[in-house]
Amino acid sequence: MLVWVGKRPLSHVTAFPAQAVERFAAGEQTAWSGATWQDWPAAYPPGGLLFHGDNKEVLAHLLANGFRGKVNLIYIDPPFDSGADYVRKVSLRGATGSAKIDGDQYTLGEQIQYTDIWANDNYLQFMYERLLLLKELLSADGSLYVHVDARKAHHLRALLDEAFGSDAFRNQIAWKRTSAHAGASQYGAVTDYLLFYTADPAGNTWNQQFQSLTEVHRARHYRHTDERGVYALGELTAPGLRRGPSGDPWHGFNPSAIGRHWGNLPSALERLDAQGMIYWPERPGAWPRLKRYESDLEGRSCTDFWDDLDPINMVGSERENYPTQKPEGLLERIIASSSNPGDLVLDCFVGSGTTAAVAQKLGRRWIACDINKGAIQTTAKRLQTVMREQVEESQQRAAAGEQGNLLGEEPKKEQPAAPAQLSFSVWRVNDYDLQIQHNEAVALACEHIGVQRTRTDSFFDGTLGRRLVKIIPFDHPLSPADLEELRRELDGRPAEDREMTLVCLGMEIAATAWIDDWNRLRKGRNAANKVHVIELRTDQKYGRFIRHEPARASVKVRRRNGRLSVAIDEFISPGIIERLRQQAGVLQPMIEDWRAMVDCVMIDPAWDGRVFNVALSDIPERKTDLVQGTYDLPAPSGETTVAVKIIDMLGEEVIVTSQV
Ligand SMILES: C[S@@+](CC[C@H](N)C(=O)[O-])C[C@H]1O[C@@H](n2cnc3c(N)ncnc32)[C@H](O)[C@@H]1O
Repeated sequence: MLVWVGKRPLSHVTAFPAQAVERFAAGEQTAWSGATWQDWPAAYPPGGLLFHGDNKEVLAHLLANGFRGKVNLIYIDPPFDSGADYVRKVSLRGATGSAKIDGDQYTLGEQIQYTDIWANDNYLQFMYERLLLLKELLSADGSLYVHVDARKAHHLRALLDEAFGSDAFRNQIAWKRTSAHAGASQYGAVTDYLLFYTADPAGNTWNQQFQSLTEVHRARHYRHTDERGVYALGELTAPGLRRGPSGDPWHGFNPSAIGRHWGNLPSALERLDAQGMIYWPERPGAWPRLKRYESDLEGRSCTDFWDDLDPINMVGSERENYPTQKPEGLLERIIASSSNPGDLVLDCFVGSGTTAAVAQKLGRRWIACDINKGAIQTTAKRLQTVMREQVEESQQRAAAGEQGNLLGEEPKKEQPAAPAQLSFSVWRVNDYDLQIQHNEAVALACEHIGVQRTRTDSFFDGTLGRRLVKIIPFDHPLSPADLEELRRELDGRPAEDREMTLVCLGMEIAATAWIDDWNRLRKGRNAANKVHVIELRTDQKYGRFIRHEPARASVKVRRRNGRLSVAIDEFISPGIIERLRQQAGVLQPMIEDWRAMVDCVMIDPAWDGRVFNVALSDIPERKTDLVQGTYDLPAPSGETTVAVKIIDMLGEEVIVTSQV
């Protein structure tokens, strides 16, 4: 059993409620009405579920809300404790992806998506807690795959053995994720690992998959040709002595003399020979071999070495521009092997949404989660596109006179599995809807104030001189709850005598009183752990930082003959302008077309002020394409609130409403 400093059992978790924030349906019938959904908790609409929040809280929420023992397949690709900030490159939309400033091209640079920086022990505790929760969600026939790199594989295996039992271990699959990787004074690392565990060592869902032959294997082994095609040479004998006909000489070749026996009875060997399936080498004394034709192969049965799946290429159609995105082929193999159509697949580190997208394409139900808002937006966009394409394909097949396979009709053999749903909803567990993403806020604030980042402290973000620094998330003012958290942390560090600086946007009055008391009562005026605050909104020295101006848009909505026409006249994203300005100095960035700043547009023609029902979405397929900016859609009867959601290239959202 693996032990680490601060290892704690997971004695309880608190389940928080979830709020629906967005809904999308690609077709009128949104979920396959078959038996599949009868086990679905009534609190949720049948369809995909995408959760924005910390997965510990989301998993606790799922357990408390009817999903215990209902998940057939879990794939997770957690951060690897790699010590890195994962960034994505952001550019403007349009042919160049850049803005012109005084003749020069400027792009938006990089945006931190998530931070993978942990002290080792924190990482282990983080993963341990999540694995224990995942186990409770897994069904009796369920499987779990944990994606890790070589540096963490042994730790994660020890954790999994403890959480699931070592009997539950099935394979450690090596996935060759890249080919070239030179290492200085060591071998190039080209593999990741998939740790495969099942709830029941014998009763898991299993569909045998086949791997295609690699070019190297093909070139090395399939070197012979006859009128029937290309073939490799296989063994006719097997190891070990046998009495009886299979140990006897055949055509002068005696297997017993080399400690082997014939794999078939001599009568069967004669039949194979009559069919031309035996190769007789010209060299005298060389043994006959079996011909294995390439055309007879389905591939090799899948082993625990996957060298036949391509990584995402830089320009591929799958590319979502999310760091650490995994290829769909990898998920196809996992989902096809370990689940059936209609089963429920879960990924609580979903990133760009690969698991959900492949589950949707293969007719599975899915639940996905991520803490990063950029990941939620990317996944939501990706799933809208997949579902729309499924509707279109089915319409095209219907138009061509074929039977469609939408929502539950029996697929023909060559058709993809029927989608289990054509809708999904986005939920938030606790409030993570920051105006700007917390990771990015921390990075910006540290840079602005001159904080030295600490890569190994799970609580404090860095140091400023001798003081410890904590950045309070910018979605709320500094509150007594934050300060109580600080107190608990310090209780666990009795030797810590440094003062602290808390960096926040603003603070509650109650927090001011709390800090006054703390500084007065702790141990006198020069006490250890004195607390200082930098309030970025008002601070004289640092105050110019992040006067966060939300994005603005001017939208005209008209109702005519039962239809709505929506026109976006103007959109401005101060965040984008500021980024460009940082690069260009005093020069004023000029973006000729506002649409270059916009990633996508969605419209809810009857907004209730809470859940955004996506009736129309405009998500240009390529980065060089722009959103349309004008839209026409059916109007609901009676007076209604039309909401237009515009998401900019940095992931900031603005919702503009009109009453018509
Ligand atoms: C390696 S990436 C996953 C990439 C994904 N497999 C794909 O194909 O795009 C890990 C993801 O875990 C998310 N993450 C990290 N900590 C999390 C937490 N506590 N709860 C939920 N998601 C988290 C990160 O935001 C990141 O998107």
